[in-house]
Amino acid sequence: MSRLIVVSNRLPLGENPSGGLVVALEDALRSSGGVWIGFSGEVVDDPRNELQDHPGAPFQRMSFDLNPQDHQEYYLGYSNSMLWPVCHGRPNLMHILPEYLEGYKRVNARIADLMLPHLRDGDRIWVQDYHLFPLAAELRARGVRCPIGHFLHIPFPGPADCAALPNPSELFDWLSYYDLLGFQAHRDLGAFAESARQLAEVEQLSETRLRLSGREVRAEVFPIGIDTASFIEEAKNAPDEDRARLLTGAKMMIGVDRLDYSKGIPQRFRAYQILLEQDPDLIECISFLQIAPPTRGEVEAYQDIREETEHLAGRINGQFATLNWTPIRFIHRPFPRPVLAGLYRQARIGLVTPLADGMNLVAKEYVAAQDPQDPGVLILSRFAGAAEAMPEALIINPHDPHDLADAMAEAMRMPLEERQRRHAALLQDVVEHDVGWWSATYLAALGQEAKSESVG
Ligand code: ADP
Ligand code: F6P
Repeated sequence: MSRLIVVSNRLPLGENPSGGLVVALEDALRSSGGVWIGFSGEVVDDPRNELQDHPGAPFQRMSFDLNPQDHQEYYLGYSNSMLWPVCHGRPNLMHILPEYLEGYKRVNARIADLMLPHLRDGDRIWVQDYHLFPLAAELRARGVRCPIGHFLHIPFPGPADCAALPNPSELFDWLSYYDLLGFQAHRDLGAFAESARQLAEVEQLSETRLRLSGREVRAEVFPIGIDTASFIEEAKNAPDEDRARLLTGAKMMIGVDRLDYSKGIPQRFRAYQILLEQDPDLIECISFLQIAPPTRGEVEAYQDIREETEHLAGRINGQFATLNWTPIRFIHRPFPRPVLAGLYRQARIGLVTPLADGMNLVAKEYVAAQDPQDPGVLILSRFAGAAEAMPEALIINPHDPHDLADAMAEAMRMPLEERQRRHAALLQDVVEHDVGWWSATYLAALGQEAKSESVG
């Protein structure tokens, strides 16, 4: 039987969830089984030269550690100080150092070496995200012939942003070694095709096939989903104590994000400030809970966003708080999924306002968690991949705080019947296109690409 081998930078070994990729793949692997290979999260001086097994999950987990130099150059450097800002339309935040690219390639080559003894004929390899673009090329160079697919969880940059990388054509060369390239949204597939046309050697063979750097590749959109059925159950069964603690009399607005500059958190805070200035009737009637665990804290741009958001929240609280009411509760901690589900269900407004985002699973989780009889309103950025399939949300421009403040006021006053109608349409998509649908559709497409399969 064909085994599924998933490779991602991050492998969840501890308690804390770490973003959309981990949440989605855990759900996908729990149902289909397979092997998940990734970084343990341990930075050690002398990492072992073999993968380490971690029993105790419904699928096999194998990890590698990184030494400090590799962690700096591959993860913090090329992945998160170069590719991440470029893919999120912020090339001005890039920090370019030649050793970052060298470290990125070195770690991808090492991962290929570590994987090789564990691969068998008939395996399908599914590589995740921007940390591992060169992995297929490295595996092919070692004789691996099984189907290898890539899925990009974040936006693909258009030509102007791509060109800000020191090595744009190499990016397309790396991608050309995959059989299947998966993107979150049509927006990303379009950006990929246009960037490839301008910056690489490409020939479009059909709607979904192209010849890239002389190799045939299939490229399609597979919008990621959540484990909708279990999320609905978790929200319904959220502990009563948590519910009781939140009953302050005010209607709650919730944001749940990693503390990332792509998530538009300062813009959200400014919009809330405008709302309270324009609509003082809402004082003490609305409360804003922003949950944002810090992420990638060694990178300067993330230190800056933390300072900026804390400063803004403090200013707004200072300006508007009363003896009975704090306008913003800003919490920098991860929460277990059932607690989050209960919080979403309590919230009249779900705020998902990134400046750029691959999909954004929080948008889908918020919808799944609502009580269909009395649902809340999703306010969604037009720049989240989720916006392509969620037109019944209040779609806003996150750069325009007045547009966002108006949407907050509209959501606060939206009649029950309109909330129900919008929610029912949103829920239908979240149910139909859940994480099981996503992985099954992707893997069926990858299965069709099984060309010559010996591992070598
Ligand atoms: P990203 O992958 O960029 O972090 P997504 O919105 O796609 O963004 O995914 C974030 C995932 O991480 C969601 O499943 C969300 O529930 C989870 N998450 C985010 N913040 C927290 C938190 N504070 N506690 C627990 N889970 C969180
Ligand atoms: O979903 C995008 C993503 O970058 C994933 O690849 C990653 O696991 C997640 O966000 C969280 O980021 P990190 O792994 O750097 O903490």
